[in-house]
Amino acid sequence: MTGELAGKAAVATGAGGDIGRAITAALVGAGARVAALDLVAPDFDDPAVLPLACDVADAGAVEAAVARAGEAFGRLDILVNNAAAPTPLGDVTQIAPADWARSLEVNLTGAYLMCRSVVPWFRRGGGGVILNIASQLGHVATPGRAVYSASKAGLISLTRTLALDHAAENIRAVSLSPGAVMTGRVIAQAGSAEAAEAALAPLHPLGRLGSAEEIAAAALFLVGPGAAFVTGTDLLADGGYTAR
Ligand SMILES: NC(=O)c1ccc[n+]([C@@H]2O[C@H](COP(=O)([O-])OP(=O)(O)OC[C@H]3O[C@@H](n4cnc5c(N)ncnc54)[C@H](O)[C@@H]3O)[C@@H](O)[C@H]2O)c1
Repeated sequence: MTGELAGKAAVATGAGGDIGRAITAALVGAGARVAALDLVAPDFDDPAVLPLACDVADAGAVEAAVARAGEAFGRLDILVNNAAAPTPLGDVTQIAPADWARSLEVNLTGAYLMCRSVVPWFRRGGGGVILNIASQLGHVATPGRAVYSASKAGLISLTRTLALDHAAENIRAVSLSPGAVMTGRVIAQAGSAEAAEAALAPLHPLGRLGSAEEIAAAALFLVGPGAAFVTGTDLLADGGYTAR
């Protein structure tokens, strides 16, 4: 345990997924207590983790979960918006309106709802950090991912406004844009880990996919004291994907 987040309390969404789980573990490893939110309360065997069921697209559920976390910890200092809906694939004529709406509701509106409930806790504690997990596909396009890219570009934009709106309250807002990461989500989309590696590794100059732990390490930096002067910006942890 490094202890750089000792005494801090965090809320992380999508914490049952591979990246969310790794971020939660990294926050706990640095000394924070973490409310781990997902559609189904994630399974964590650690007294520093408070698992909670919460659909981030449901304003009432978000308010209740954040209140529960804040009351349990007595404070909130860090919010990680990591939840993302399954990505509908296809061009705009192929994506169903309900799938389009759900992606925006979870990936973008969910982050807004979380911020809306968490910022008052930050104010009470004299500051805080919002970390939005975006994507390299919020910066550049790839065929068949219209709503995913739009939602992540929206999240990068929301981050900048959050940073400006709350800077005077000692609240930072940053986003983190991973390239392809070998998670269950990517494996399911490609059909297998081997197929994911074959299709995606060549798109990254480093010649491989990232790991959830590498993304968690970047997240830990962004929410920690080493990034105290970093706000309103995005960090690409994409193996060089967007450098081409
Ligand atoms: N894996 C990658 O290659 C990659 C690349 C770039 C960005 N990202 C982003 O990183 C984040 C995590 O990705 P992952 O690969 O771990 O995905 P994942 O699908 O494994 O995890 C996402 C988690 O969000 C949860 N979730 C979905 N809808 C929710 C809702 N309405 N309320 C609460 N939780 C909900 C899911 O249950 C899941 O546990 C996502 O925001 C994703 O877009 C991933």
